[in-house]
Amino acid sequence: MSIRSIVTGTGHYVPPRIVNNHDLGKLMDTSDAWIRERSGISERHHVDAGVGTSDLAVEASRRAMADAGAEPSSIDFIVAATLSPDHYFPGIGVLVQAKLGLGTIGALDVRNQCSGFIYALSAADQFIRTGAYKRILVVASEVQSTNLDFSDRGRDMSVLFGDGAGAVILEPGPADNGQGILSTHLYSQGQFAAQLWMEKPSPMDNPTFQAQFFEEGRFYPKMEGRNVFVNACTRMPEAVRAALAHNGLSIEDVDVLIPHQANDRISLMVAKGLGIPVEKVVRNIDRVGNTTAASIPIALDEAVKQGRIRKGHLVALTAFGSGFTWASALIRW
Ligand code: UT7
Repeated sequence: MSIRSIVTGTGHYVPPRIVNNHDLGKLMDTSDAWIRERSGISERHHVDAGVGTSDLAVEASRRAMADAGAEPSSIDFIVAATLSPDHYFPGIGVLVQAKLGLGTIGALDVRNQCSGFIYALSAADQFIRTGAYKRILVVASEVQSTNLDFSDRGRDMSVLFGDGAGAVILEPGPADNGQGILSTHLYSQGQFAAQLWMEKPSPMDNPTFQAQFFEEGRFYPKMEGRNVFVNACTRMPEAVRAALAHNGLSIEDVDVLIPHQANDRISLMVAKGLGIPVEKVVRNIDRVGNTTAASIPIALDEAVKQGRIRKGHLVALTAFGSGFTWASALIRW
């Protein structure tokens, strides 16, 4: 019998502190009107001091496990995606394992930024379909607010990003009833690595941490916004089309599209490029900002809980971001 991965539970968590555009306007030369017009964002959530990416991941994971009716002890593998781990090393997977009190199960960390959740889902999907694991926690989490440049110099980036986490539980199910992950498609183009990156710290420097880099702001994330924007608007539709073609499906078959919430203008361009009506597109960036790897599982959980995603629906996920990396996944709910 052939096996597919079924999403049996979803969950998300955002830290309680809301930072709106007016709050940011007190820190730098920006305005509520500019941020809303250029990105669609009104507010985002920021952690308080001492709260790490693994803490948000744990909360989202607990909610996903409860939703799936899965005892923590039944989780047999973790795949965790983030660009903002609590520490340079180890990754957050092991911290999630410890904080949830799970057994000595494997914990894989995925470093694919905005595409991280789909990369993580894809990896977990392979483990389920080969029979290696029976109940995988896939979690994506970010704390970005603690390393953004909230001066005028960093205003293009710091108004966009927020903190949060989302998780799903994957389990095997029979392929013949049509349900589950139909496919994942993953892409990269490293020639553009420097167009959206955090250049420092780098072990290529000796010593790695230098006061000069700090003064130059090179420990902050940087982005060539316009080129990232253009590539996001072409690569995400391409990835969705590849997924549909692979499964012999068409645009009309898509019930719900969840694009990575990078910028609401990008989400609308992706929908337009694909010819998908805007009512089918999940858009929550106005309330949470761009939460990088966490953005898709947060939006997915909200859409499921709101009843926008129902049994039998065809759900298309797509992401684009630093790397460049981009990806798509098709799930029959
Ligand atoms: O999640 C990973 C993937 N990320 C993305 O996909 C994001 C892609 N890029 C974007 O979303 C957009 O490029 C931005 C939102 C970052 C910028 O929007 P834009 O419409 O491309 O603006 P721009 O970069 O062309 O800047 C227009 C002006 C500039 O001023 P001048 O040079 O025209 O005088 C910027 O300095 O807006 C200025 N600006 C701001 N003004 C007020 C940039 N940031 C801000 C700000 N507040 N926060």
